[in-house]
Amino acid sequence: MNKILKIGHRGAKGYELENTLISFEKAIEMDANGIELDVHLSLDGHLIVIHDETIDRTTNGKGIVNQMTLQELKSFTIDEKHLIPTLDEVLDLVNKRCFVNIELKNQDTAEKVVQLIEHYVLEKKWNNDHFIVSSFDWNALQQVRFLNEDVRIGVLTETDMDLAISFARFLKAEALHPDFQLLTNEYTTKIQEKGILVFPWTVNEIDDIQKMKDFGVDGIITDFLDRI
Ligand code: G3P
Ligand code: CA
Repeated sequence: MNKILKIGHRGAKGYELENTLISFEKAIEMDANGIELDVHLSLDGHLIVIHDETIDRTTNGKGIVNQMTLQELKSFTIDEKHLIPTLDEVLDLVNKRCFVNIELKNQDTAEKVVQLIEHYVLEKKWNNDHFIVSSFDWNALQQVRFLNEDVRIGVLTETDMDLAISFARFLKAEALHPDFQLLTNEYTTKIQEKGILVFPWTVNEIDDIQKMKDFGVDGIITDFLDRI
């Protein structure tokens, strides 16, 4: 059986505050093969690592991410030690120690993310295997593929597996990222037979992790890397 890739959801969300530099460092310490994170665009065009459209849940401020500048976003704190990171800051921290699964939360991030990956590949000696770009917004993924045929894509789905498989083939995606509750043994085989990897999310309970292993998935996105 092939090794299962361990992918830390929002870093090491089970142990540290999500989408913070310390959470990503903790995931790497926990031997992650990859980290997953979420990106939005700030008003002045910076890629911001945060899950929600607003900063209300995760910081001491209030407001919509794409209506604030980077400077405004940096004036709020996640806790006394942490500010909202930019994608550049996370990549500098990771420094090729694992791959980075960038989840596009909006279509308006697609072009910037492709430009950033191209910059890291061409200027900083990263390679395309250090990145995988995923999204529930399939228009955003289509834009990524239109802009760059080498960027690895992960098709996210929480509804229709068959449609997601067709779309992943159409896009020449590297992986399909299903809600783990949609996944079956048969679907896992069907996807892999098409040369597409299977990375279910967000698998946290020991029994569910075992089930995914029994299906033979290629990687697991989890808050609890040590349970894999
Ligand atoms: O990438 C998988 C997973 O992160 C998608 O859901 O809401 O945690 O971004 P969410
Ligand atoms: Ca995510």
